[in-house]
Amino acid sequence: MERVSAPTLDTTNTARVAAPVLPPLQIGPIRVDTPVVLAPMAGVTNKAFRTLCREAGASVGEDPGLYVAEMVTSRALVERNTEALRIVTFGADESPRSAQVYGVDPATVREAVRIIVAEDRADHVDLNFGCPVPKVTRRGGGAALPWKRDLFAAIVRGAVEAARPYGVPVTVKMRKGIDDDHLTYLEAGRIAEGLGVAAVALHARTAAQHYSGTADWSAIARLKETVTRVPVLGNGDIWSAEDALRMVEETGCDGVVVGRGCQGRPWLFADLAAAFAGRPERVRPGLRDVAETVFRHGELMIDYFDGDEGKGMRDLRKHMAWYLKGYAVGGDSRRALAMVSTLDELRTLLDALDLDAPYPGEAAEGQRGRAGSPKTPHLPYGWLDSRELDAEHSERLREAELSVSGG
Ligand SMILES: Cc1cc2nc3c(=O)[nH]c(=O)nc-3n(C[C@H](O)[C@H](O)[C@H](O)COP(=O)(O)O)c2cc1C
Repeated sequence: MERVSAPTLDTTNTARVAAPVLPPLQIGPIRVDTPVVLAPMAGVTNKAFRTLCREAGASVGEDPGLYVAEMVTSRALVERNTEALRIVTFGADESPRSAQVYGVDPATVREAVRIIVAEDRADHVDLNFGCPVPKVTRRGGGAALPWKRDLFAAIVRGAVEAARPYGVPVTVKMRKGIDDDHLTYLEAGRIAEGLGVAAVALHARTAAQHYSGTADWSAIARLKETVTRVPVLGNGDIWSAEDALRMVEETGCDGVVVGRGCQGRPWLFADLAAAFAGRPERVRPGLRDVAETVFRHGELMIDYFDGDEGKGMRDLRKHMAWYLKGYAVGGDSRRALAMVSTLDELRTLLDALDLDAPYPGEAAEGQRGRAGSPKTPHLPYGWLDSRELDAEHSERLREAELSVSGG
């Protein structure tokens, strides 16, 4: 892929290049030289997509960072559901292997973590407390859960205890809280740190914000002041390597977590690795390189689904609009690619594009993926009345795990 010096694209970037380069991120026994984490994204960060991100990160000769698998629900894993087990599969050369567990019941989460570590399925387990989806928070799960500090503590404690004998670090990923009047992150950070997690990550939005507006990076700075014994990772609205450096400068966080910014742009991890090494080069692919990445993504998808071409292609479809954002590709081609069903068809459609089209600059950059508007969080009746879990809410929570779909 063509590489160009960032200063030709962004004159303010010359100063950024001199930005402080962080020390390696230490997550328990795992040392991550480039303090960059691929955010877990349900339906996105499976083995296929992680492979592309890892290859990009490694392409600049730097340590590739940490690449977290999409979340797996604890109950599905304990029940050994086929798709759940597929989620916690990793590339033969993938190291560290990073899994994320979502759960609402301490015993089930403990057992899910025990399965992961005792069966040597991953080297790192992250716990997801960030899901804002109404059907989850309505039952007290996701981003609503840390409000019940006893339940939050019980889940984290169980996971840490299950992983400890195997030397596997457990981390926590959360949002700021339910809404601006019900913030939980500072307390949750303190609780998690006290219970022995190896790092905490903050998506600096409330559940009420969903993916709207901008992430409040000042909250990351506050969390960094509060949690002092383990790394604090900042998350939210990193669309470029320059954003990542700026987040570190502004918040003092120990590493960054990148989600939507790499959707359709796995090469962002090359930019991030270069930037954290203090280097100016950035990947600016023309359409031919994008097409090659899409095709390789397709092949990896089929492999991920054990050779099931239809399944692989269906899963690839959602990535098309992200890959093509800003590029000179007509509506008909976009529609056909978004309905592709075989690898041969994918090849034909990609070959028919104007592959000499150059990198489109700003049109391919900036915000992408989920956005939307704020939503009043749906919560169980009386949820906010107490910070401790009562029997009635405990019963409702059982259903919260069935409908979860992300963070
Ligand atoms: C499609 C999608 C799926 C997601 N799935 C998860 C998930 O499985 N676990 C999780 O903790 N967060 C999940 N998230 C939240 C992201 O990890 C991240 O916190 C959020 O997108 C904010 O970071 P960003 O601004 O870099 O995208 C998801 C986000 C998106 C857009």
